[in-house]
Amino acid sequence: MTLTYGNVIPPLDGNYHLKDYLKVREGFSWEQVEKDFSWYESGKVNIVYECVDRHVAEGYGEKLALHYLHGSKEVRCTYQELKDRTDHLATILKKYGVQKGDRVFIFLPKNLDCYISILAAIKIGAIAGPLFEGFMEESVRDRMLDCGAKVLITDPVLGKRITKSDFPDLQTVFVVAEAEDCTEGEVSLYEEYRKTRADQDVIEWVDLEDGFVIHYTSGSTGKPKGVLHRHRAMIHQYITGKWVLDIHEEDIYWCTSHPGWVTGSVYGIFAPLLNRATVVVNGGRFRAEFWYDIIQRAKVTIWYSAPTAFRMLMAEGDEELKSFDLSSVRHVLSVGEPLNPEAIKWGVEKLGVRIHDTWWMTETGAHLIVNLPSQSIKPGSMGRAFPGITVGILDESGREVPVGEIGQLCVKADYPGLMKEIWNNPEKYRSYFPYDGWYVSGDLAYVDEDGYVFFQGRNDDMINSSGERIGPFEVESKLIEHPAVAEAGVIGKPDGLRGEIVKAFIVLRPGYNPTARLLEEIRLFVRSELATHSAPREIEVLELLPKTRISGKIMRRVLKAWELNQDAGDTSQLDGGVCLRVALVD
Ligand code: WTA
Repeated sequence: MTLTYGNVIPPLDGNYHLKDYLKVREGFSWEQVEKDFSWYESGKVNIVYECVDRHVAEGYGEKLALHYLHGSKEVRCTYQELKDRTDHLATILKKYGVQKGDRVFIFLPKNLDCYISILAAIKIGAIAGPLFEGFMEESVRDRMLDCGAKVLITDPVLGKRITKSDFPDLQTVFVVAEAEDCTEGEVSLYEEYRKTRADQDVIEWVDLEDGFVIHYTSGSTGKPKGVLHRHRAMIHQYITGKWVLDIHEEDIYWCTSHPGWVTGSVYGIFAPLLNRATVVVNGGRFRAEFWYDIIQRAKVTIWYSAPTAFRMLMAEGDEELKSFDLSSVRHVLSVGEPLNPEAIKWGVEKLGVRIHDTWWMTETGAHLIVNLPSQSIKPGSMGRAFPGITVGILDESGREVPVGEIGQLCVKADYPGLMKEIWNNPEKYRSYFPYDGWYVSGDLAYVDEDGYVFFQGRNDDMINSSGERIGPFEVESKLIEHPAVAEAGVIGKPDGLRGEIVKAFIVLRPGYNPTARLLEEIRLFVRSELATHSAPREIEVLELLPKTRISGKIMRRVLKAWELNQDAGDTSQLDGGVCLRVALVD
């Protein structure tokens, strides 16, 4: 098969439940989707009821809900067990005074305790705050402080990254361990499980507008923002799980993202459980043999991952691929960064499936632009608007531009997945809606005559490395905390494997020499305080940074143009910027 940019790949025969989709777009309404939920009749709302308890009530208690695999370890959890275990932990949380609306943070590796903790907190009406296991002390502190975490659930290893006295609102720290492995002031969850009898009716009913999960996400300025989602989002998460992820009764579904990222929670936990799938729980690093092994062992049928992962697998070569039986896989999806046409080609040729790109954001709560299994894919395009979603490409004055023209990728703000608020920051929330009724994503794109959307980059300085959002301001702020660094400007540098890498330009304080050793020390400093993925993979030392003459703001745009050997555009505001090249590559 020859595949070039813009070629169309029709749906592949036999792989999908095509008959179900023939009418997907016809007569779609969100109200119609609501009828699939038990609250439509009962009036009693809670997303965890729909994810877990409901399936038990309907006779699916014996069905496998979660299948954890890690190394040689395997743990299986049926829907009945998931109900019992979330009831049990929810009872304990309640006993410790957790109430509706309280923020319960979960800082755990991707394992069953992580899933159960998130679900248990939401079950009693609290707001779950899942934290990525790669976050270091400051990243955790920023998030928990911003929204006044009342409870933290962690383990003895990750718990060490937290200094409890930092958090005035924090009342209880539960540790998934025996008492002897806890430090003073921590509560052993194992002990609590033995001491506490589960209340079978512990669930709290909430309003569709109540928040249930908060995800912190980075933008081009400031600290990470807390994006709060409401129970109503389940309507959107469920129906995209059904039609985009194509989840059916017999499916074994694996999303490789950690629940600390929005993909790992919405499409790692909620959407698949709402659709009563069997969910594979496994985190870990990007390593081909390790991932193929999970697919083979768990007999994964639906696999949701990211372009960086596919590129890494492609780079591993056929040898690795051929030594595993991947024949169970029938549907593959991608998210987070542009999906190369080469990756789609690889999928068709090597896995026998198309890779379906999906586009959405932390703020949007669920998929907005997708490739439905029943529709043709145009490699290079993210797909088309999901039914019920209106996409618009707007110019700076908020007017829609003609087909084929690049503009701001916007979406009508009238769908159920959209965030409820930005925590404690109504101004930031409002900034997403500068034009009447439109949500502005910050991405640039164009739409072709068939409604296919083509991603063209960001409209701001946000960095996307391996599909993970990184705010340059956060990294810059951390860099200048290092005693050797006077000033820092951070950009995303295009990278064949990771999409972008974090690149820092710094000015050293007098007396410091730009040795490779010093630069490595600076890199490790960011890594140990923020997170591995935020640490610059390249650092370049300059004598001055390009700044605006009047406000003294570092011009990342100019740094990026220098990096790409491009014309920096209007630099009449520019002050400084003499280059001394000493680069350290990871
Ligand atoms: C980018 C992840 C190209 C985009 C769910 C967006 C993509 C940001 C795609 C959101 C895609 C997401 N193709 N770029 N299919 N999907 N992005 O909040 O820039 O972590 O604005 O949500 O990732 O990242 P976030």
